[in-house]
Amino acid sequence: MHIAFYDTNPDSFDVWKTAIQKQIPDATVELYPKGNSLRAGYALVWNPPEDMFRYMPNLRAIFNMGAGVESIMQMKSLPNVPIVRLIDNSLKRSMFDYVDYHITKYKMGFDLCKMQQRQHTFKVPSNPFVDRDPIIGIIGLGQIGRYIFDQLKEKHRIFGFKRTPDQYQYPIPLLGRNKFYSGGFDGQEFQQFCAVSDIIVNVLPLTPETNRFLNKETFSYMKDGTCLINIGRGEHVVNQDLLEACWSGKLRHCTLDVTDREPLHYGHRFWNSMWIDLTPHIAGRYDVDSMVHELALNIEYIKDDDDVETQSYHERGY
Ligand code: GLV
Repeated sequence: MHIAFYDTNPDSFDVWKTAIQKQIPDATVELYPKGNSLRAGYALVWNPPEDMFRYMPNLRAIFNMGAGVESIMQMKSLPNVPIVRLIDNSLKRSMFDYVDYHITKYKMGFDLCKMQQRQHTFKVPSNPFVDRDPIIGIIGLGQIGRYIFDQLKEKHRIFGFKRTPDQYQYPIPLLGRNKFYSGGFDGQEFQQFCAVSDIIVNVLPLTPETNRFLNKETFSYMKDGTCLINIGRGEHVVNQDLLEACWSGKLRHCTLDVTDREPLHYGHRFWNSMWIDLTPHIAGRYDVDSMVHELALNIEYIKDDDDVETQSYHERGY
């Protein structure tokens, strides 16, 4: 079995190769473009170059090291094979930890303390979450969003928003104080969702429908003083509108793990904004051995022509 490997981080190859050889002993792993593309039966990739699959006639499946498949979906020469997102518990857990940490930051008012520190001010900041718990709103209830939702609902009042109501049903009924909305970004449901959420977490995939959905219009639906955590994609955000929403107080603060260009250019206004915490796309850490376990399982499903739970579909774009 031949696996063609490509990652934007060239240092990861040896770690993956060792883990694959341990768990799938009959696999040969070759770094693209050095290896022989004609032999590749599977591709294991992160942000692959445009032409990668063009000369792989024997390809049976593409495995994406993570949740976001937009770089694959946008390829012009995409073969008609299953595209499988490798999403294991370590990745989900890491995304949850990231969100949980930043929710705590807002709940405790650490962002406000940091702003005061810049002005050498020592006082308890005025934070609405001192005497009431923030309500959390999660946008995107796919594999990762759902996991985060389920963990957070143990400790917070939480609302979910999902664009696609019928096709991919939320598996458990949401009872009591938690609720989930679905609809388009211009509909009443989204406005209601924004109007109740104090901290909004974006976990959506990037598709033509979700591109730039965080804009002047949608910010206007939010409460004054909303905190935003974006672990989806930078292209979801209209940057200028986000800055204006910060200046006007519509947004109290933003935590951005993703930006439309990564890295942002040196002079970008996000770097020095007191309303923005930037992290370099680190929310989705994972354990390679555990991801390779998923890979091995999924290769078996594909060999047996079984359905794969995390398969992506061209028609829905993720
Ligand atoms: C991270 O950005 C992922 O898509 O898994």
